[in-house]
Amino acid sequence: MPADHYAHYGDDDLAALIGYLKSVPPVDNDLGPRQIQFPGTVIFGVLAYTNWPVNVIDHASVGGNAPEAAPSAEYGAYMVSIMSCQSCHAENLAGNYGQLDTPQGPNITLGGEVAGWSEEDFARTLRTGTTPDGELLKTTAEGGMPWPQYAGLSDTEVQALWAYINSLEPLPNNTP
Ligand code: HEC
Repeated sequence: MPADHYAHYGDDDLAALIGYLKSVPPVDNDLGPRQIQFPGTVIFGVLAYTNWPVNVIDHASVGGNAPEAAPSAEYGAYMVSIMSCQSCHAENLAGNYGQLDTPQGPNITLGGEVAGWSEEDFARTLRTGTTPDGELLKTTAEGGMPWPQYAGLSDTEVQALWAYINSLEPLPNNTP
């Protein structure tokens, strides 16, 4: 769970999320004891431990107000955090190339393919998974991108995300 990104949730948005979860009918779904099997035990237990989401959160600074919902880079930065784009596209958004334990999202700064895109191209890609080249992005189940879940993004949210990406320095692809 990318709790390090969700740590940025504004109080009102988190309250709305909790309100929604409480409105969903309870389901008795026993998943049994949690098990991470070899080699996951080694990878998670030894290599990744210090980078575990919970260990990189500044616990003193969580909570507070989200920026105003507007087509601004500031609101886009907030959306990127709470939608956890960085868990698949890397913290600097220049691509998770060669990573074994997370999906390999490409460079989405203007140093990558998106450089030649219009806002409309970006919106269509996020909402329908179809890039300007006509390529259909893989879904999360295929190791790709959760675009079917992004279909409901509002115009303001998409515009804010695009404004934020355009406010970033174009970066070359991260090296593995
Ligand atoms: C669960 C992992 C995951 C998350 C979360 C995620 N992405 Fe992706 N994204 C990917 C992967 C993997 C691809 C490449 C899929 C493919 O090529 O089929 C991709 C592709 C893209 C592309 C197309 C880039 C190109 O060069 O064609 C864009 C744009 C994009 N993502 C933006 C975003 C934004 C913005 C967010 C957050 C709102 C986000 N992604 C969240 C995994 C993710």
